[in-house]
Amino acid sequence: MSKFSEYIGSQFGNPRGFVGAVCCVIMNVINRAMYKNTIALVDVSPDDKVLDIGFGNGYLSQLLYDKCKCDMYGIDISEDMVAVATSRNAHASRDGKLHLQIGDCCNLTFDENTFSAVTSINTIYFWNNTAKGLAEIRRVLKPGATFYNVVYTKEWLDKLSYTKKGFKKFEPEELISLGKAAGFAEVTIKEIVKGKSFVVVYK
Ligand SMILES: C[S@@+](CC[C@H](N)C(=O)[O-])C[C@H]1O[C@@H](n2cnc3c(N)ncnc32)[C@H](O)[C@@H]1O
Repeated sequence: MSKFSEYIGSQFGNPRGFVGAVCCVIMNVINRAMYKNTIALVDVSPDDKVLDIGFGNGYLSQLLYDKCKCDMYGIDISEDMVAVATSRNAHASRDGKLHLQIGDCCNLTFDENTFSAVTSINTIYFWNNTAKGLAEIRRVLKPGATFYNVVYTKEWLDKLSYTKKGFKKFEPEELISLGKAAGFAEVTIKEIVKGKSFVVVYK
């Protein structure tokens, strides 16, 4: 793996500075089908709270707020992305509905039974403890609420040079059994692009 590929991979896992911001814009373009599917699935009211894990430049937060006018919460390990995403979501911020902060999904600071939905697009590869992250998400979800975990297939990620280091890749069955072990009663898979991407829906 070249140093350049390693650097780009690390920027996807923790975007920093100008290069990190550019990587996020690239993601906004290449992951369009993922955002579209997530927006179609999340249906909450303005009184609800939604948490986006690893919001990057806040692209999904913006789409979710435009659709639902809900309280948009988010955590990301990148301090730089908190600034970029806050600036992108100035409208929600002015409405008092934006709550983005630094945080690690393996250690959430929110109370249990807080959120009507939790979303994550392309972040689970980077969590240092997958089981703990899923258990934390379940803890902060309201009873019966849903976690939408949007990912690329292992098969697809294996084709990309920059995913050789720092990316955990999962088979659908593994994400189902990890979800059940974390206490979700129902875990289903919804394909986005055959062989390439899918949403794991945890209830
Ligand atoms: C590939 S980017 C995806 C960004 C965004 N979800 C999107 O699709 O536009 C991964 C993001 O997850 C964040 N991240 C990585 N590990 C994390 C963790 N343990 N908890 C929260 N965020 C994390 C990174 O900082 C980065 O912003």
